[in-house]
Amino acid sequence: MTAPRIEVLYGADEIAERNRALAADIRASDFGERPLVVAVLKGGFVFAADLIRALHGAGVAPEVDFMSLSSYRSGTTSSGTVTVLRDLETDVAGRNVLLVDDILESGRTLAFAKRLLLDRGAARVAVACLLDKPGHRAAAIDGDFVGFTCPDLFVVGYGMDMGHHWRELPYIGHVVTEA
Ligand code: IMP
Ligand code: MG
Repeated sequence: MTAPRIEVLYGADEIAERNRALAADIRASDFGERPLVVAVLKGGFVFAADLIRALHGAGVAPEVDFMSLSSYRSGTTSSGTVTVLRDLETDVAGRNVLLVDDILESGRTLAFAKRLLLDRGAARVAVACLLDKPGHRAAAIDGDFVGFTCPDLFVVGYGMDMGHHWRELPYIGHVVTEA
């Protein structure tokens, strides 16, 4: 078998430009100057790191916390159930929360997280996702701020992995395995 090749879908410059536009949209959305950004680990960490710096450029000073959720055990298929692997340290009651993740696919992960934060008394919860893959939705949820609507391909890079590989790529690509 030859080594897999990564075909670039969204380059680093294109992502950076999109982040600046998303930050401007978030700033304009009346979400307040000090929202709580909840980055969903692991896949959302690179996007969240760049988005908060773009938010700074747009005049927003977010507080940041992390939540580790798992809906994928291994490989590329969803297990259907979501578990909290690491919880927030912040009390979300009364806060405007911006939930930041890599991909909205079935929507189960972000629907679970949004419900949890609202149940804990968050004033508002908006979803910022880098990629929307609209074809496989199983939960009733949409992204409020979406980076790119992504073709139905398994993607890696910019925080996203396949079997723990390729999170470090500065771009988003998909894996092409040549026969
Ligand atoms: P959902 O609960 O089906 O919306 O799952 C979304 C999560 O599945 C994302 O946050 C990713 O962690 C993972 N995921 C879905 N599609 C991909 C992909 O193409 N590459 C890498 N991870 C993916
Ligand atoms: Mg994820």
